[in-house]
Amino acid sequence: MNITIKQAKDYVNQEVTIGAWIANKRSSGKIAFLQLRDGTGFMQGVVVKQEVSEEIFQLAKSLTQETSLFVTGTITEDDRSKFGYEMQISGIEVISESHDYPITPKNHGTEFLMDHRHLWLRSKRQHAVMKIRNEIIRATYEFFNDNGFTKIDPPILTGSAPEGTSELFHTKYFDEDAFLSQSGQLYLEAAAMAHGRVFSFGPTFRAEKSKTRRHLIEFWMIEPEMAFMKHDQSLEVQENYVHHIVKSVLENCKLELDLLERDTSKLEKVATPFPRISYDDAIEFLHKEGFDDIEWGDDFGSPHETAIANHYDKPVFIVNYPTKIKPFYMEPNPENPDTVLCADLIAPEGYGEIIGGSERISDLDLLNKRIAEHGLDPDAYSYYTDLRKYGSVPHSGFGLGLERTVAWLSGVEHVRETAPFPRLLNRLYP
Ligand code: 4AD
Ligand code: MG
Repeated sequence: MNITIKQAKDYVNQEVTIGAWIANKRSSGKIAFLQLRDGTGFMQGVVVKQEVSEEIFQLAKSLTQETSLFVTGTITEDDRSKFGYEMQISGIEVISESHDYPITPKNHGTEFLMDHRHLWLRSKRQHAVMKIRNEIIRATYEFFNDNGFTKIDPPILTGSAPEGTSELFHTKYFDEDAFLSQSGQLYLEAAAMAHGRVFSFGPTFRAEKSKTRRHLIEFWMIEPEMAFMKHDQSLEVQENYVHHIVKSVLENCKLELDLLERDTSKLEKVATPFPRISYDDAIEFLHKEGFDDIEWGDDFGSPHETAIANHYDKPVFIVNYPTKIKPFYMEPNPENPDTVLCADLIAPEGYGEIIGGSERISDLDLLNKRIAEHGLDPDAYSYYTDLRKYGSVPHSGFGLGLERTVAWLSGVEHVRETAPFPRLLNRLYP
């Protein structure tokens, strides 16, 4: 019977075969411990000299890291291992040997590991982070499907730029100029007028010359867009969504969180509602905290966001930023037209902004004015202004950055570990 490591719990005291790789090995004269991994998990295999042929025992002792093989044996319960089960091996069939595997159990530098990202992905820690990423994606589809959203896939090759023109990746589209999408939002607004509630999940690109622990050049974004939705209602959707993914990861990724030594008590505190603080109050708070470098009208940098976030044990919404530091499409705040109906959601523990969202301008004249003020080509946006000509409605939406959310929930310091093959400033390989 061929099974996976994940299935082992259902096969206690039975003889099974597992296709696996050698993650690590320890042996003495009498016994060999093989750390096996098969993609579904990690498990220890035990080879006892007295219980197998001399040939099998010698083979077990000679196995090198990352050799692929079929192991056959009996599954037993083992309270000492975190996983809870191990295999008493009776047979080994090598599939392909591996020699001089570059990533040994000793410590390696970050650049070395990044150069070997295609292999580094096999390590326990990286495996755990990708599983958490996968759980966030699964819970995302679950949340939006359960709440009446239709998934819409906006184009990747585009002619318009929602988030400002300075960070665009240019490419040729036959004889025309095109950009890689920095956000699907404008197309999602069109789709929301057809389907009411929509969301997308896809790659986005920012030619940002930022080399920080929070910035990727290519990252994945979840972007919901909702017709007949005021900004305050959108904040409720956002906090319910974030709460759902945190709860799902806590419930379904226990082994991974444990392996990553994530302090889950901090995640347990993430209950709705999340606090809301206005940009104005945030500025005042920062001044009280001794940040003399920031004035009303400036955008926040990471130290500012972290200072604000550290004041709370849940994610915090900063609402109503100044109009001049936000994109052209945001609805003015009726209580102060120098600000807009928007919010950034700042994660706790210094992980920074994970969501940016707003209510969108629904008035045609105002939108045209903003397009002109921002120096955008009206022809490139005529599809977007059309939405205000034919039955315009108040609508709101937001974008959650997947990798920053993975970093936060996994407790990893840098977003480079949260994408399988991160695109960073100065890194396009592997
Ligand atoms: O705040 P941003 O730029 O918002 C938008 O793109 C909106 N159009 C979304 C919308 O309303 N539909 O980006 C949204 C989120 C940020 O909060 C952050 O989590 C993530 O995307 N993000 C990045 N993640 C990694 N690397 C980068 N360079 C990122 N830039 C933004
Ligand atoms: Mg933002």
